[in-house]
Amino acid sequence: MTTTSDRVNLLDLAPCHEALEEELLAAAKRVITTQQFVLGPEGKALEQEVAEYTGAPHAIGCASGSDALLLALRALDVDDSQVVVTTPQSFFATVGAPARLGATVEFVDVEAETMNLDPAKLKEYLASCSKDSEGKLISPRSGKRVTTLITVDLFGRPCRYDQLEALACENGLSIIEDAAQSMGAGLNGQRCGAWGRVACFSFYPTKNLGGAGDGGMLTTRDDELAERLRSLRVHGMAPGGKRYYHREVGWNSRLDELQAALLRVKLPHLDAWNASRREHAAAYDDAFEGLEGLTPLARPADGVEAIYHLYTLRSTPAATSCARTSTSTGSDRGSTTPSRSTCRTASRTTATARGTCPSRSSSAARSSRCLCIPSWAPSGASA
Ligand SMILES: Cc1ncc(COP(=O)(O)O)c(C=O)c1O
Repeated sequence: MTTTSDRVNLLDLAPCHEALEEELLAAAKRVITTQQFVLGPEGKALEQEVAEYTGAPHAIGCASGSDALLLALRALDVDDSQVVVTTPQSFFATVGAPARLGATVEFVDVEAETMNLDPAKLKEYLASCSKDSEGKLISPRSGKRVTTLITVDLFGRPCRYDQLEALACENGLSIIEDAAQSMGAGLNGQRCGAWGRVACFSFYPTKNLGGAGDGGMLTTRDDELAERLRSLRVHGMAPGGKRYYHREVGWNSRLDELQAALLRVKLPHLDAWNASRREHAAAYDDAFEGLEGLTPLARPADGVEAIYHLYTLRSTPAATSCARTSTSTGSDRGSTTPSRSTCRTASRTTATARGTCPSRSSSAARSSRCLCIPSWAPSGASA
């Protein structure tokens, strides 16, 4: 019989925090001693380190992954006259952000094998759009201008940006990469954070690079966009400009120094932790091969570097109910955000265009039977 101590939790941060305890406490003390708690040297240094890590020239800290999405949309001037296209398979923040700005959210379905946005379905959707007199794309569903695509690198696996970027470019769409779950993942040698116009990260404690509270970061290659984001996160004050002079309405969305200092301790270990997650995933892939009722998502294709924020299986109802009992038999499990629930809530509470929620029989709907099992790195510090 399995005892409580044998149980593997879906995530356990204790080994990592114990191994790094001295450094984490020293970092916290450093911030408390300097008394610089907001927009100080730790945040600046973390921004530089994340920029180097992702390969995007600019990194801008903010209060959370949700705020990163909202800031990105605001910086791209998304408003209620526009359509934001996205996946139905994500955490609710992905649709909540455009909805808060009054934009119409339209869904394009995912690939069943990866749960990421399907480039072929996006192509179909774009082909169904018309063009107005200025050549701008008009949605057949809502009659509004289609301007923005939010991609989500779900479970730590990058989307097919080699195809999505070309489609976006041909159709004049800006890509916002929701990379909240994928710090360290990449495609064809280019890391998440360096795709699209702008990318959004979350440092929520359960993420592969997680803080001790909320936090987020944006990355971009676009100098002007970076400047606007730095301004929007401090109520529209120009960065380095006159204090209390506000050139537009923003809000307070700053990453605090304590979070930045702790994240700087963890970042150098991220690659080793992600490598360990990949090893676990490969072992799971082998173990689950051919098993009835439980199908792992596809192994990463050539050029795809996944970091397994969550190791996910698609399961039949019978296997799901069997897995439910696993909490008492040794292994924790979790379910992912059900796509139909995201769609339904979005339809009820936001300007979601009618008929854009994938049907029950579609691949996205099947994802409501996704199971996640532990994939985290057991060891703490590793160089
Ligand atoms: C895909 C995705 N987008 C956005 C977010 C929002 O991030 P945060 O919780 O930091 O606001 C999350 C967090 O769970 C997420 O997984």
